[in-house]
Amino acid sequence: MSIQKVAIFGGSGNFGVPIVRALLDAGFAVTVITRHTSTATISSDVSVVRTDYSAGELVKALAGHDAAICAVGPGGMWLQSAMIDAAEAAKVKRFILGDFGWGKHVRSFPEFDEVHALRAAGWDHAAALAEANPAFTWTGITTGNPIDWALRKFPIMGFDIACQSAIIYDSGAEYFTGTTLEGIGQAVVGVLQNPDETRNRFVKVMSIKTCQSELLEAFESVTESKWDVRKSSTETLLDSGRAKHRAGTGGWILELVVTQLFQKGESRSQVAATREDTDSDLLGVKTESARDVVTRALEAYGLLQARS
Ligand SMILES: NC(=O)c1ccc[n+]([C@@H]2O[C@H](COP(=O)([O-])OP(=O)(O)OC[C@H]3O[C@@H](n4cnc5c(N)ncnc54)[C@H](OP(=O)(O)O)[C@@H]3O)[C@@H](O)[C@H]2O)c1
Repeated sequence: MSIQKVAIFGGSGNFGVPIVRALLDAGFAVTVITRHTSTATISSDVSVVRTDYSAGELVKALAGHDAAICAVGPGGMWLQSAMIDAAEAAKVKRFILGDFGWGKHVRSFPEFDEVHALRAAGWDHAAALAEANPAFTWTGITTGNPIDWALRKFPIMGFDIACQSAIIYDSGAEYFTGTTLEGIGQAVVGVLQNPDETRNRFVKVMSIKTCQSELLEAFESVTESKWDVRKSSTETLLDSGRAKHRAGTGGWILELVVTQLFQKGESRSQVAATREDTDSDLLGVKTESARDVVTRALEAYGLLQARS
């Protein structure tokens, strides 16, 4: 199977932009499929097709493409089965599912069951279509924590870059796995360059396995300064997140996600115990150190000069 023309839903998003960049750098021809109502700015290096997500418009948008990628945000995940139906009808050979998270065997809190069920319904739908039509295939890409992006965007993850302060939950020694935005883009490229090895299965990748203590050390070393450190506990965070969820107020998602990352002894947020248990080498996702990851987060924040 040879893949050259790739369409992406959500190509203007947090993950979509680095995925599109990686695809272009690897020589794929890229079409971003975007909503008629979207106000997103899209790279001039790609073709753009606008859609209302009706079956007719989707099939037309996907015609002539070898692969399609679902990188829409959680708000658009209910459209995944419509994308999959249209991809199969348009003779797209590979559909990359909307995952970029924790995959099929996610061990998260019950508060997330509904959102996982919505995603999994699309995944099961793709598997059923692929079974009925061997010309249609799929891959899910499980990337764990989007680490450089998350560290910069969410101070609740423990690191407030602007204030150079940290919150260390429990002992700070709970390990989790993460993939950088560059690694996520490379994982997509790697799947499309290895279609036979990645056919009809979930692949797992990681750039790093790390913990808060290692990240704090790296932040202090790269910024050459001592950060203000406060201690907290995942128990407090869990209670707060659950109370917000029960009350129907915002903020619970991040609090529960961060609890899952750092809750002692649970290893809830590791896509695999070791890199060897992942597909990182096959897909060309490189290993990064805590120093590398922290440097990326600081660069993206504008605190260090970006590497060329
Ligand atoms: N592992 C993690 O911790 C983690 C964290 C963040 C995201 N993710 C996953 O990564 C994937 C991409 O997430 P993201 O943060 O990159 O998404 P995002 O930036 O929020 O959205 C990506 C694009 O999706 C489209 N979109 C948004 N809302 C939509 C709606 N209601 N209907 C249709 N389209 C909509 C928009 O594209 P147009 O405007 O061009 O139509 C948007 O630019 C998702 O599967 C998400 O769950 C995982």
